[in-house]
Amino acid sequence: MAQSNHDFIERKVGWLIVFTLLTVSVGGLVEIVPLFHQKSTTTPVEGLKPYDPVRLVGRDIYIREGCYNCHSQMIRPFRAETERYGHYSVAGEYVYDHPFQWGSKRTGPDLHRVGGRYSDQWHRIHLLNPRDVVPESNMPAFPWLDRPAKIDDIEAKMTALRKVGVPYSDEDIQGARKALEGKTELEAVVAYLQGLGTALTAGKAAPAPAAEPAPVAAPAAAEALGKVFFEVGSSALPGDATAAVNAAAEFLKGKADAKIDVTGYTDKTGDVEKNLELAKERAKAVREALKAAGVAEDRINMKPPVSITGSGDNAEARRVELNPGS
Ligand code: HEC
Repeated sequence: MAQSNHDFIERKVGWLIVFTLLTVSVGGLVEIVPLFHQKSTTTPVEGLKPYDPVRLVGRDIYIREGCYNCHSQMIRPFRAETERYGHYSVAGEYVYDHPFQWGSKRTGPDLHRVGGRYSDQWHRIHLLNPRDVVPESNMPAFPWLDRPAKIDDIEAKMTALRKVGVPYSDEDIQGARKALEGKTELEAVVAYLQGLGTALTAGKAAPAPAAEPAPVAAPAAAEALGKVFFEVGSSALPGDATAAVNAAAEFLKGKADAKIDVTGYTDKTGDVEKNLELAKERAKAVREALKAAGVAEDRINMKPPVSITGSGDNAEARRVELNPGS
């Protein structure tokens, strides 16, 4: 019986198509529908805010200009990607994206964590003529973006987004036009780019669903032997560094093969390359202080510098941390 049913399906192309479609649809639905209800895909990561009116307009220009044809916004959890772009993307970061901009082709780099990587000025120049900042770039120029942004449909856009679950308040929508007054398309796109991927703070692991919020402070803070805080833009060792340095030296005394990890952090303002350089210099200053306190150089591990992105207190960010080493 079963044999002959199959015989029938294989001989009638029309039925074969119908049954194939049916099977594939059911299989697809079973895979896809549960995702709509899973916490990890429907709960925004901590710190994620709906796009403000300027970023929203910037995002629409990004779509209008077809930036997604060359740029993806999804960092996959592979080492090659996370080393180049930063923390892999998580579903909770896209909750307010309608439609999402994951993209499927990378002619240019992934942009999901480009926020804060360059200055606004860099982006402006780059969009007006990429060759001015990246001589070998083959990205097209977008000189026409330097014109006033269209603002008369912003309320309708935000109202529509609210219908699909973006939590805009009435005040948000009423104030939108004002927030956009005098903005150019270029400014809107740059604001959009600068906000990309910044909700996940550096060092924070994949977010927990809202029911159990992830800790805001960097997880390493709890077990740090000491922290040295620096002035803005400076790598000069502050006077109160002694406590942290002594705590680290003390920790080493009792343990013959223990080491100390030294990690420099910078805040998120300014040029990231320069910030990382600064974080390195700060870590070096602390290393010298450790050596002066009698710690042998081979017991000091210099860790790669970290530039904090996303929200967070800047004064807390400008630091060097001393941790039990590995
Ligand atoms: C034809 C493909 C193409 C299109 C369309 C395109 N880009 Fe690019 N983009 C590139 C390439 C290639 C690079 C790498 C070279 C460079 O930095 O200019 C790049 C680099 C960038 C970078 C720097 C990324 C980094 O991490 O260094 C940003 C930001 C960017 N593009 C934004 C945009 C925006 C915004 C649009 C739409 C207005 C856009 N791109 C459209 C190809 C493209």
